[in-house]
Amino acid sequence: MIRIGIIGMGIRGTMFADTIGQNQYAELAAFAEFNDSTREKAKACYQVTAYRDYRELIDKEKMDAVIVSTPDFLHKDAVICAANRGLHILCEKPFSTSSAECEEMAAAIEKNNVKCLVAFENHWNLPVVSAKNEIESGAIGNILNINGRLNDTLFVPTELLPWARKGSSVGWFLFPHMVDMISWLSGKIVASVYAVGTKKKLLSLGIDLYDSIQTILNYTDGTHSTICSSWVLPNSMPLIYDLKVEIIGTEGALYLDTNDQMLRKGTGSAYTHVHTLGTRINGLATGGANFMVHYFVDALRKNEVIEANEKAGLINTRIVEAIHRSLESGKVEELPAEQPYPGVTGINSPNLIG
Ligand SMILES: NC(=O)c1ccc[n+]([C@@H]2O[C@H](COP(=O)([O-])OP(=O)(O)OC[C@H]3O[C@@H](n4cnc5c(N)ncnc54)[C@H](O)[C@@H]3O)[C@@H](O)[C@H]2O)c1
Repeated sequence: MIRIGIIGMGIRGTMFADTIGQNQYAELAAFAEFNDSTREKAKACYQVTAYRDYRELIDKEKMDAVIVSTPDFLHKDAVICAANRGLHILCEKPFSTSSAECEEMAAAIEKNNVKCLVAFENHWNLPVVSAKNEIESGAIGNILNINGRLNDTLFVPTELLPWARKGSSVGWFLFPHMVDMISWLSGKIVASVYAVGTKKKLLSLGIDLYDSIQTILNYTDGTHSTICSSWVLPNSMPLIYDLKVEIIGTEGALYLDTNDQMLRKGTGSAYTHVHTLGTRINGLATGGANFMVHYFVDALRKNEVIEANEKAGLINTRIVEAIHRSLESGKVEELPAEQPYPGVTGINSPNLIG
């Protein structure tokens, strides 16, 4: 059995705990949760030892790995502490909101020779994996550019994430996914970025954060992509998020849209898109995040190389950091020469197919 501890039992931590419970090769060892009422609620639900301090969890429990699912700006210390104890790590995105911190985290992971998966879950997200397969089949030729957007409703920064204003932004929360996705799909290396942003709606609510950020990514091969994300869609939208991507190649194009989840619900009070990418089938949740956890367990029990790892996390943070620098400087920001994102096989997590 792969014994896994979780640090941070909020929305993501409890989803990870549920998914571990669905994996025949893994078990939840214990967890750490800072907030008293969240910890008590999770303890009652999962019936394992609950710690307030993650260092106590790491010191006392016999575990193979930990999942770090604390807020965006609180990943570093837990990751380094776990790595120094020889534990494998699944760390939420962004790996950190600072590339200097990512370097320290990657150094600890590499020094202790532990595995690390950064939660770039689109590598296991059905439509994104289908797009990757189409690209790899040669159906659209060579990629010329990718234009993507990932937006959330206003509910996300104002209600869902109470910590958003303390150390995150629409850029830190959403761009790690977009940067990862287009890097993974295109295999291209970002040479420089240019970004503009708007601060109006959230500011009017007393929150000093960007409403929207638009970015051009220039690749080393002379081609370009654009990404934009907004945190102020009206709460009446039929789904909490809106992900759309167009991928234009020399021989064709792909259009990805997860906003319409293929099931629409109208009731007396609202019209919504029912979330279908993740529905439980035979008791198993089938979303990208769930497949990602199964992949992590398999990589540990089979001692396989994890490719969406700390290096991908570091490159990703460098790019998102440069986007934030460009927002402030109004200039094109250059990036150091990097390797392209490594690929992963993702969707056919073997433990689910026999
Ligand atoms: N991969 C994805 O698609 C995806 C989606 C949503 C969120 N995320 C990321 O997951 C992370 C967590 O997000 P969330 O939505 O679950 O937030 P959340 O606020 O619901 O949960 C975070 C939890 O961590 C706890 N915590 C904070 N500091 C702690 C500490 N030192 N020790 C133990 N617990 C601590 C908080 O009390 C809270 O319960 C963020 O980095 C976020 O960006 C990733």
